Amino acid sequence: MKTVYFDHAATTPLDERVLEAMKPYLTEHFGNANSAHQMGNQAKVAVEDARETIADIIGAEPAEIIFTSGGTESDNSAIKGVVKATGKSEVVTSPLEHHAVLHTAEALKQDGGRPVYVEPNPDGTVNPQKVADAITENTALVSLMHVNNEIGSINPLKEISEVCREHNIPFHSDTVQSIGKIPVNVDELGLDFLSMSAHKIYGPKGIGVLYMRHATPWLPWMHGGSQERRRRGGTLNVPGIVGLAKALELAVEEMDQHARHFKKLRSRLVSGLDKKFGDRYQINCNKEKCAPHIVNLSFTDTGEQFDGEMLLLNLDVEGICVSNGSACTSGTIEPSHVLDNIGLDNKVANSSIRISMGKDNTEDDIDYLLEKLEIVINRMASKAPTS
Ligand SMILES: Cc1ncc(COP(=O)(O)O)c(C=O)c1O
Repeated sequence: MKTVYFDHAATTPLDERVLEAMKPYLTEHFGNANSAHQMGNQAKVAVEDARETIADIIGAEPAEIIFTSGGTESDNSAIKGVVKATGKSEVVTSPLEHHAVLHTAEALKQDGGRPVYVEPNPDGTVNPQKVADAITENTALVSLMHVNNEIGSINPLKEISEVCREHNIPFHSDTVQSIGKIPVNVDELGLDFLSMSAHKIYGPKGIGVLYMRHATPWLPWMHGGSQERRRRGGTLNVPGIVGLAKALELAVEEMDQHARHFKKLRSRLVSGLDKKFGDRYQINCNKEKCAPHIVNLSFTDTGEQFDGEMLLLNLDVEGICVSNGSACTSGTIEPSHVLDNIGLDNKVANSSIRISMGKDNTEDDIDYLLEKLEIVINRMASKAPTS
């Protein structure tokens, strides 16, 4: 049976070119980058080259790049590290953040900390003025994501960073879903911290970066060896680091080409949805200001009892891999915290699916998705109790 993968915001396959770059460091150049012999030195050179490549791409200095195990660790590290260094208790964020930020902010309560949530706009963005209003003398950090992983909304980071600068508050952004899709430069966006993850950009899983601007208050919260200038202990994942740098390089080189491809696929998808569903569906994002690869949609006439998990299962049976809400939370049947917080009622939120496109998706994939979606939705809607 045909399988069509539309879940690239959850993860992407490893690009062959990335695998080729990693291979020598999985086999013959297996040295520990901290060892003081030639094998260690080979690994160290590869790590430092990768660090330079990544720093160059985001407009940073190599020493401002810390390798981590991925987006989750980078988010944890930015938040916990600043709270620890400043002794201040409040983190200003939004209820639409990924759980890597939300749960970290919530966990601060155990030590007397306090997450402060800025109410988002219905299109999923955060208003910079509301950030300014939320800042107090106890604010340690503002943490707001670039692209939302569920609906693809894009936060106005530049304007938010100006507010943070005015108040002298460090600004962290989770750019896991934006890097390689839209331009990310730490100076242009005014970021003090940034999180990224390789597996969303055709790199390997389990490797990411925390960018940290020089002289920003921060203390390590994870202890171990002296790696990463004593900021993150642990033997360096050399093949992963090489893979991340290669994946990022390719993603940025090919970004415009991919953006054009996504635009074409997206317009085919939307015109197909219009034809098949008319006003029976809605897109859960501002269509003009949305990440190129994510389309989150809901069906509006499916009834109170519509089961979103069943929708996913039915599509899976037809060979279509999509997601409802974030893949990190699938398995729970609660409505997604993102859709809930942009004001969708449970009925509409329950029928939502996130279609996240990848560079290898084709127009045929879109047509297949549309054909199966029509069959599944009409079948499920006709069976749903009307209450
Ligand atoms: C916005 C965002 N932040 C953080 C993460 C977590 O990244 P990782 O899987 O590398 O820990 C994800 C993954 O779904 C994400 O989409």
